[in-house]
Parts: sequence; C-alpha cells; structure tokens
Amino acid sequence: MMNFQTVHIISKILKKLKLISVADYILGIHSLIKNRKINRDFLLNHKDFPVPPARLAFDAYGNIHWPSYFDQGVNSSTVISDIINKEKITSNFKVLEWGCGPGRIIRHLRNLLKNDVELYGSDYNKKSIKWNQKNIKGIQFIVNQLEPPLSFQPAFFNCVYAISVFTHLSEEMHTQWIQEIERILKPGGLIIITTHGDLTTNRLLSHEKHLYDSGKLVVRGDVKEGKKWYQAYHSPKFVRHNLLKSFDILHNGRFDSSIQDIWVARKKEIGNQFTINFI
Ligand SMILES: C[S@@+](CC[C@H](N)C(=O)[O-])C[C@H]1O[C@@H](n2cnc3c(N)ncnc32)[C@H](O)[C@@H]1O
Repeated sequence: MMNFQTVHIISKILKKLKLISVADYILGIHSLIKNRKINRDFLLNHKDFPVPPARLAFDAYGNIHWPSYFDQGVNSSTVISDIINKEKITSNFKVLEWGCGPGRIIRHLRNLLKNDVELYGSDYNKKSIKWNQKNIKGIQFIVNQLEPPLSFQPAFFNCVYAISVFTHLSEEMHTQWIQEIERILKPGGLIIITTHGDLTTNRLLSHEKHLYDSGKLVVRGDVKEGKKWYQAYHSPKFVRHNLLKSFDILHNGRFDSSIQDIWVARKKEIGNQFTINFI
C-alpha cells in the first residue's frame, strides 16, 4: 500500500504529463471490476433505489461502490438533518446543497427532516444535475458555473451546505463562493461546510505543512478545478480567520467518520450579533 505522499508525487507527475485523466479512467474501471459482485448484490436488494451512472459516481467519490454511496449518503444526511432539525423551521424554509454531485446526500434529507422544507441542489457538473432531475423527485436541481453567481435572489435560503466542495477549489474560488453563499443566505441563516483539516495533514509535504500551519490555504492544482484531483487543505486558522471570518462559528469537529472537518456557522443578523451554543 502506497503512502499518501507517494500518491501525491505520482499524481503530480501524471498531472504534468497530462495523463491524470487516463489514470483516472483506469482507476474507475478497476473500481468497477473490483466491486462488481457487491454492487450487483446491492442492486438486487435495492430495486427502488436508482444509482447514478458509474462514471458520475467515480468522478464525484473516487469509487464505484453502491453500499458506500447509500450508507455514507444516509450518514452524512443524518449529520446535516440533525443540525437543521435544531432550527426554528418556519414555512418556506429553504435549504440548498451546493456541489450536490449525483445526489448521494440530498436524496435522503427529506425523510430525515422533522419539518417540511424546500430542497434545492446545485452542481457545476451538468451530467450529475441531469441525472438528479430525472431520478430524484421533490428537489429542484440546477446547474451552476465554476464561478458564482447562483441564480437565486439575495437572502433566499435558510441553510446552505457544501460537503467536500471547498476541498477542490482554488483560493480565488474560496473567496468568491463564500461571498456568494453569504449573499444568498438570510440573516441568521446557517452555512455548513466540510474541509480538509488536521486529520489530513499526513498527506502534506513539508513545505505544504509549513504553509498549512501558518494559516494559509494549501492548494494542489494543475488539473481541472473542482475535480477530485484538484485539492485544497484548510487549517482551522485559515477557516476561522479567513474563510468564515464574517460568520458566527457555532461548531467545528470531525465530519461523521470521514477524514474531513465539519464547520457550522451562522450569517450575522444585521445589527445583532448573537451566538448559540450548538453541539
Ligand atoms: C467530492 S464531490 C462531493 C459531492 C457531494 N457533495 C457529496 O458529498 O456527495 C465534489 C462535488 O463538487 C462539485 N463542484 C466542484 N466545484 C464546484 C463549483 N464551483 N460549483 C458547484 N459544484 C462544484 C463537483 O462537481 C462534485 O460533484
């Protein structure tokens, strides 16, 4: 088994040689073959649960493994719904998953929420959104571009969440998207995001760890932005003092059993700074 730093060095060489998409394709086929039996059994036992095309799942999750797509989707959705269920839900309460991919999390959310809410999902991958629109009912799905804006009015949402999306963006996109999320959130609205934090620092090379420790965003680019091989690492210092600096941070911890951190924060009320003890 290769360690993370070796994987990084190999992927850096493949990016330079413009061979990363070929390697990604081969890894996708490998995942498909390796999980063939388990996936077939899953589909036999879950006839009413449509799964996305394998290439879309591999693009978003780096594996094609339907039991994980299901279980991790339910677990992540439970974390999100537990947070939203603590909110005062009024009529027309609106929730957006930005970067929803092929629906792994948002498709479970309605069943886990105590109250009726309007659900929206967006992604810059048109194929994922098209698949969601056809296969996941009761949620409005829209395509956005790599860069903002989203097509929503200011203060439209009570909650915006983004799981493993900032983890694949440049510093410029962090700045632009956090402002965009702030624009579309109501005052007092919730933002929930995940980041590559302290549990992922074993992946960093020493110069990257130095940047991380000094509170700078570490970005590994040289490939299409927003894709899984484009990676960003966020020290808690960066999140507190930069990314979420204009929000009231309510909670930071490990996101479910994953290696990512979760951050829950609230858009400031106009002229009324308040904090709530959350989890
Ligand atoms: C690692 S996947 C996570 C998908 C989903 N959030 C989940 O956890 O199941 C990252 C997703 O972010 C999407 N994405 C990346 N950059 C984006 C952007 N600028 N706007 C919207 N979606 C983006 C990708 O297309 C992909 O679906």
